[in-house]
Amino acid sequence: MHNEELHKIAKQLVAENKGILAADESISSANKRLSDVGVEGTEDNRRRYRQLFFWIPKIEEGLSGVILHDETIRQNDENGKPFITILIEKGIIPGIKVDLGAVNLPLFSDEKITEGLDGLRGRLKEYYKMGARFAKWRAVITIGDGIPSDACLDANAYVLAQYSALCQEAGIVPIVEPEVLMDGDHTIERCEKATGAILKRLFAELVKYRVDLEGLILKSNMVIPGKDCATQATPEEIANATLRVFHNSVPESVAGIVFLSGGQSPKDATENLNAICKQAGPWPMTFSYARALQAPSLEIWRGDDGKLQEARDMFLKRLHLSVKARNGEYRSEME
Ligand code: G3H
Repeated sequence: MHNEELHKIAKQLVAENKGILAADESISSANKRLSDVGVEGTEDNRRRYRQLFFWIPKIEEGLSGVILHDETIRQNDENGKPFITILIEKGIIPGIKVDLGAVNLPLFSDEKITEGLDGLRGRLKEYYKMGARFAKWRAVITIGDGIPSDACLDANAYVLAQYSALCQEAGIVPIVEPEVLMDGDHTIERCEKATGAILKRLFAELVKYRVDLEGLILKSNMVIPGKDCATQATPEEIANATLRVFHNSVPESVAGIVFLSGGQSPKDATENLNAICKQAGPWPMTFSYARALQAPSLEIWRGDDGKLQEARDMFLKRLHLSVKARNGEYRSEME
C-alpha cells in the first residue's frame, strides 16, 4: 500500500552528496558523551547538545536525514520550536530510533539481543503522526571466543525482520543495523566472517517476512580488524573486504547502504568510507555517523556557548569531508 512512498523516501535518504546524522544516542550514551567533556547529563543539557547541531545553517546541504531519540523528537529548541519542525523545514527527513537497547541474550554469556518489539506497532503510528518517515533498530554482534553463536545471529535477524515489517506497515522506511563491534583483538577475516553471517541470515529473514527491500536501508559496520588487533588494515583492504561481504550477502534490490563509524576516529571513518565508496556497487552508499560527525564539535563546545560558532564550524567541516568521502573524492590533505 505504501510501497511507492517507501521507495521514494529510501532513495532520498541515500541521495547524492548527502548522508545521515545519527543524533539518536540513548539517554545513557548521551550522558556519557556529555560527562566525557565535563557537562552534566541532564535533560536540558541533552537538549542543548541537540540544538548545537540542528541550528547550524545549511546542514541540509549535506544531510538527507537525522535519526532522533524518543526524548529528542519530543523536545523543542530554546525558542519553543519543536526540533522535528526545524528539521522538516530544512527539508531533512526525520527518523526515529525505535529499539529499546540491547540486553544480555539469556543463557548466552557475552551476547546481546535487542528489545523493543512489544508495543512497537502503536509507537510507530505515533512517530508517523509526529512526522518521522524512517526508523532505526540496532542489533549488536560481538566477536569473541566461540561467538557470535548461531542462536545470537538467528535471534537478532528475526527481530530485525519483524521490526522492518512493522515499519513498512506503518509507512516508515526501516534502517536495519546489525553492528559487528570493533571491540576485541580479532582479525579483519573474523569481522568479515561475522558480518557475512549476520547479513546472510538477516536478508533471508527479511525476504521470509515479505519486507520490501527497495524500501529498506542497511546500516552496516565496515569490515575492519578489532581495535586491539595487532595487525591493522589499510583503507583499501577494508574496502575490499567490506564490498566482498556485501556482494555475497546483500541483494541488489536493497535501496542503499549506510555506515556507522563504530568508534573509529573521525579521520579513519572518513578515509575508510572514501575507499569503500570509490568502488562502485549496485547500491548507493553513504554515512550515517554519530561519533565521527559530532565528537570533534562536542570536544570544542564542552557546554560553553561562547564556543558555539567554533563547534558548529567543526561539525560543518566533518560533514563536508564525509560528503567528499561518500563521493569517493576525499583526500587527507583536506583535513
Ligand atoms: O547505532 C549507532 C549509531 O547510529 C552510529 O553511531 O557512528 O558513533 O557508531 P556511531
